[in-house]
Amino acid sequence: MGQQTTKNTTGHVWDDDLQELTNPLPRWWLWTFYLTVIFSVIYWIMYPAWPIGKSYTKGVEGVNTIKYTARTVDGKEVQKETHWNMRSKLMAETNEAEARQKQWFDKVAATPYEDVAKDAELMQFVNSAGKTLFSDNCAPCHMSGGQGKVTFSPNLTDDSWIFGGTYEKIHQTLTGGRTGFMPPFKDMLKEEQITQLANYVLSLSGEKVDTAAAAAGAELFKNPGVGCFVCHGPDAKGNQDMGSANLTDKIWLWANVPAQQDAAGKVEEVKKVITGGLSRGVMPAWGGRLKPEQIKLLTVYVHDSLGGGK
Ligand code: HEC
Ligand code: HEC
Repeated sequence: MGQQTTKNTTGHVWDDDLQELTNPLPRWWLWTFYLTVIFSVIYWIMYPAWPIGKSYTKGVEGVNTIKYTARTVDGKEVQKETHWNMRSKLMAETNEAEARQKQWFDKVAATPYEDVAKDAELMQFVNSAGKTLFSDNCAPCHMSGGQGKVTFSPNLTDDSWIFGGTYEKIHQTLTGGRTGFMPPFKDMLKEEQITQLANYVLSLSGEKVDTAAAAAGAELFKNPGVGCFVCHGPDAKGNQDMGSANLTDKIWLWANVPAQQDAAGKVEEVKKVITGGLSRGVMPAWGGRLKPEQIKLLTVYVHDSLGGGK
């Protein structure tokens, strides 16, 4: 037998004591409810809301859309329109930036090298796009500023070139790649002869050497039976078609002469190269990996932005 808690009941009783109350709803609740009803009516009028067949009510405010240029997988441009939201706004902006970038790339591609270098606006683009391309593809070997690393990769910022520093030669290097090759001489020459040659090579860069050994080395260098001059030239200045190093410019790539303090250590470094030969220097080909306009831009970047071009 339950107790009656309030007088406001509907009068129905179930199960002897179960009654239905008719207390009024709290005022604050009721008013909130009315407000939501009013709000929804206003919302339906103002904004897109109700489906009608395949369409929907557009509301007084209408539907904001955003137009943008999209690129299909095969590179075709198509105009698209979509509802405005942050995502589509970002997409539209990205696409616009890409389209603008493509225009610049095309402009660089269509302009002769010398004219690109003279055009301040184009060079501004070359500097920024080139920097990105360079750090993505080249910096792992040539370092971020292009300064290279002895025994690993050549410096691209100086005006000494193994394969040539003209636009055409740099373009050729990038497209087809390069591999400098020098045969090992350990089976052909005696240790003493290799020491003499090393002294001669070091003397060409103004290093202090054993002059008698260097003189003997000079003879060996010119000796057709040994053949150094065939690749490095009689003046030892190298041959860019072959990528044989200039041995007279104090610039070392494979023999780590700069790291050595004393004359004996320097001789050892050069001897290592002559003894074992070289085939480590592999500059990969980018012809299949980068687009032609990217290679052209990088050519200008290496030649003019990094600064050592000829
Ligand atoms: C895997 C390492 C590696 C990467 C990546 C690489 N290079 Fe090289 N690059 C080399 C090496 C090593 C040589 C020297 C080859 C030799 O002397 O036999 C070289 C040579 C060159 C030369 C010729 C230098 C001269 O004195 O003639 C240029 C120019 C060059 N690289 C530019 C680039 C650019 C631009 C990129 C990026 C697209 C790039 N390299 C990416 C390793 C690399
Ligand atoms: C078949 C051609 C060839 C012959 C022969 C040859 N060289 Fe070389 N040499 C090269 C090439 C190519 C390079 C650069 C390799 C590279 O950059 O990857 C080189 C590099 C060198 C270097 C390293 C330079 C540096 O910057 O570290 C030295 C030293 C050198 N040669 C000395 C000699 C001497 C001495 C002889 C004769 C005993 C000789 N070479 C014979 C092709 C040749």
